[in-house]
Amino acid sequence: MRLDKYLSSGGKYTRREAGEAIRHGAVTLNGLVVKDPSRKTNAETDTVTVSGKLFRYTEFRYLKLNKPRGYVSTTDPDDRSVMNLIPSEFRKAGAFPCGRLDIDTTGLLLITNDGQLAHELLSPRHHCEKTYRYKCKAIGGDQVRKLEEGIDLGDFRSMPCKVDACDPENGTITVTEGKYHQIKRMFLAVGSEILELERVRFAGLTLSGIEKEGDYSELDGSEIELLRSLSSKQTNTQ
Ligand code: URA
Repeated sequence: MRLDKYLSSGGKYTRREAGEAIRHGAVTLNGLVVKDPSRKTNAETDTVTVSGKLFRYTEFRYLKLNKPRGYVSTTDPDDRSVMNLIPSEFRKAGAFPCGRLDIDTTGLLLITNDGQLAHELLSPRHHCEKTYRYKCKAIGGDQVRKLEEGIDLGDFRSMPCKVDACDPENGTITVTEGKYHQIKRMFLAVGSEILELERVRFAGLTLSGIEKEGDYSELDGSEIELLRSLSSKQTNTQ
């Protein structure tokens, strides 16, 4: 693997930061300064330091799944676990679903072993956007306004959100929090009811490339960079 990829695979550095550190002479490979980011590195046998400190290699894995109905967002050894839909190497690497979708909700689920990133994306303070496509019982303008303004659900008040309800057979709602059964509870609170729910966007990720239920794909470099930039931006604005 290239030295810049080796340094960025654990999430501590972006590929660009790794490249800059290497070009600036801050990185050694087996005791010698290496200034070429494309230099081949063996994760099992090579010793790498950054600014004099030993760099410990961790391989983080990121996968997006189009969760089918009937599966649960858990790592428990349950036949209905979403982990059974993806290659077993992800379970072995300690990956887990980043957040939950209800058993009857379909759509985008991130699965990763990057606990820090998952924590940041899920933290309520970070307002990570999630968009759902829904089918619901009849809903009017006043009800939509209430949803958008935020509603008292007893244990919490939902934050303001965006709702497109022109067609109750094909609406979208974008929220920045992820409480238990949140969307279903919000619609019940205004006198409507969710009949079908599909997550189509999570933290900038989309269903592109995994359009069919059960499809999955490992995130590409730009998708990983997107998540990392989002989580670090959110962390820095606290
Ligand atoms: N809100 C819900 O009610 N269910 C989900 O699965 C996700 C969000």
